Amino acid sequence: MKVLVTGGTGYIGAHVTRGLAAAGHEPIIVDDLRASKPERAGNFALERVDLADTPALTAVFARHRPDAVIHLAGSISVAESVRDPDLYWNNNLGAGASLLLACARHPVRALLFSSTAAVYGNTDRSPIPEDAPLNPTAPYGSSKLGFEHLLHRSAPALGLRSAALRYFNAAGANPEWGVGEAHDPEEHLIPRIIASVLDGKALHVYGDDYPTPDGTCTRDYIHVTDLAAAHVAVVEADGLASGRSFNVGTGRGTSVLEVIRAVGDRLQRQPRVEMSARRPGDPATLVADPSALREAVGWQARHSSIEEIVDSAVTWEMSRRAARS
Ligand SMILES: NC(=O)c1ccc[n+]([C@@H]2O[C@H](COP(=O)([O-])OP(=O)(O)OC[C@H]3O[C@@H](n4cnc5c(N)ncnc54)[C@H](O)[C@@H]3O)[C@@H](O)[C@H]2O)c1
Repeated sequence: MKVLVTGGTGYIGAHVTRGLAAAGHEPIIVDDLRASKPERAGNFALERVDLADTPALTAVFARHRPDAVIHLAGSISVAESVRDPDLYWNNNLGAGASLLLACARHPVRALLFSSTAAVYGNTDRSPIPEDAPLNPTAPYGSSKLGFEHLLHRSAPALGLRSAALRYFNAAGANPEWGVGEAHDPEEHLIPRIIASVLDGKALHVYGDDYPTPDGTCTRDYIHVTDLAAAHVAVVEADGLASGRSFNVGTGRGTSVLEVIRAVGDRLQRQPRVEMSARRPGDPATLVADPSALREAVGWQARHSSIEEIVDSAVTWEMSRRAARS
């Protein structure tokens, strides 16, 4: 099927497009390249359009007539959303509404949305099921939750099947696909650890006094190849009920110190760690209960041991640096 992928040149989008193509589908990318490079589109069709530009987006739908949409485009930094909440409401909710307007004019069978574990905020539940209380602590999570609601409530009128995938911590890279993580600025833990080892710079760890076994935050790391497979499984699941939100994770938690050790072991050099104060709004533990997605479509993580994630992320970063030098 033809699948329009918003944010398809971003980190996760670049993996989702390649996962779709490997499963025999035709991805069409819509991305205004505000946070990515056109090379990431590879050989796939790329429409350079801001989702907020409804007429331009509607014209893209008219040209390509997609069967389904996977909506990954968005603004992604929790810290930036606290500094600039308007950007998050405009880009994560407003531009999403513009996408629904395009779907109203050119109906599609399904729309999958990239949501986030940040919709849960601070919670005592671990692992977290989808029916846990939804208490996002920053505009990032609130804007993603806002679009989940808008999408699910609008889906019947639009005649499409909606699904939201709440990613936990996306990580790793698929070396066969030649794409990996390259955010600017990079706020994610694994590339930050790799860079601090390779560049000999101190790594700041935010808090070692959390109520976790070693005092540092615990997260559920999910390999992007597994994330891509989850999208393919959900977009293909025509019989799946509309309006569902699913966790995408492994059910296992790994602490910041455990991730640092895994990267240090892979590179045979440990980073210099400097302990800093907690960041406001960082929950101690975020671990998914992924059983609903497994029961719905048979998906489960296959590449998400911390060793495989770290190995692939290091391989990607080394090749990126070699290409630059
Ligand atoms: N990376 C993670 O761990 C993680 C976790 C949970 C959820 N998510 C969600 O997954 C999605 C993708 O994340 P990512 O890490 O690949 O981010 P990314 O920044 O690498 O990719 C986002 C892409 O969207 C594009 N974009 C943003 N706003 C746009 C607009 N208005 N019009 C057109 N294109 C636009 C950017 O140019 C970029 O290519 C985001 O929606 C994010 O909230 C990511």
